Amino acid sequence: MPEETYPDVPPEAWSGVHRGPLREGEWVRLTDSKGRRHNFCLEAGKRFFSNRGHLEHDDLIGREEGFTIPSSAGGQYLVFRPLLAEFVVSMPRGAAVVYPKDSAQIVALADIFPGARVVEAGVGSGALTCSLLRAVGPHGRVLSWERREEFADVARRNVTQFFDGDHPAWDLRAGDLAEALPASGERADRVILDMLAPWECVDAVADALVPGGILVGYVATTTQLSRFVETLRAHGGFTEPQAWESLVRDWHVEGLAVRPGHSMIGHTAFLVTARRMAPGERPPTKKRRPAPGAYGVDYTGPRPDDLPPQTTEEPYAE
Ligand SMILES: C[S@@+](CC[C@H](N)C(=O)[O-])C[C@H]1O[C@@H](n2cnc3c(N)ncnc32)[C@H](O)[C@@H]1O
Repeated sequence: MPEETYPDVPPEAWSGVHRGPLREGEWVRLTDSKGRRHNFCLEAGKRFFSNRGHLEHDDLIGREEGFTIPSSAGGQYLVFRPLLAEFVVSMPRGAAVVYPKDSAQIVALADIFPGARVVEAGVGSGALTCSLLRAVGPHGRVLSWERREEFADVARRNVTQFFDGDHPAWDLRAGDLAEALPASGERADRVILDMLAPWECVDAVADALVPGGILVGYVATTTQLSRFVETLRAHGGFTEPQAWESLVRDWHVEGLAVRPGHSMIGHTAFLVTARRMAPGERPPTKKRRPAPGAYGVDYTGPRPDDLPPQTTEEPYAE
């Protein structure tokens, strides 16, 4: 997208961040003393109700965020505008969302940069879309495909709410990426796949990605992980796929009681990254033989075409 298209876009329109006193029409996030959270849109003359009574929207409008306010029944509420990471886990969902810990990894490891042309599918509820849009800025482009219209509608509402209007870099389209991307003729610097069967999109993505471009897949199960990685290897036009997951653990810090939190999110999804080779180029052949039995008789998925033949019949090592 040419730079001059949006020379005067105010930062609020592409960052989703507002400064200054709280205004009518903005979303706020109230947190009570037990950590319970409530998000709502400020409207003059309205009341917010909770199990600790009520408070007037008018008492919030016009104040700088970051204050505590009492409710009519003696509750205390902390008032801030919601951050992106807070918004996406509390917004309405059509499909499961990419959690903030993973969005952060995707933005960093897919090397999403201001001005990037990013393709993503599926859009689901639009959580990852918000992070991608913020990272590409007003002069980039996020082309998002979703094959279920009802999810696209949820995503549109969520993303529009977060950015308080249309983001200048967003192009949301209905369709199945495997067919729609080739038909569109679009080129991409980065492609992010968050869907049940990302392996079905590998050919389409390979044609759209520029040489050196990055593909990231986000999959929930080990069977999906295996099939996606092996499909990328078998394609031959990508570097060796890297697979990983991230685990985040809270810590309790109080005087001498400094210890890991009792609960953590054990699993969200696995991430896979690979870079697109130039047309006609292949990555170097692997020097190391596959683990014994890795592609043995029980393995039925795609096979790299440079496999040494004897590995196919070997049993798993004891
Ligand atoms: C887990 S959700 C995506 C969540 C989203 N990334 C978020 O953070 O909110 C997966 C979505 O992919 C969509 N989907 C699956 N396969 C697709 C395809 N081939 N093309 C487009 N959308 C697809 C599904 O309809 C579903 O909405």
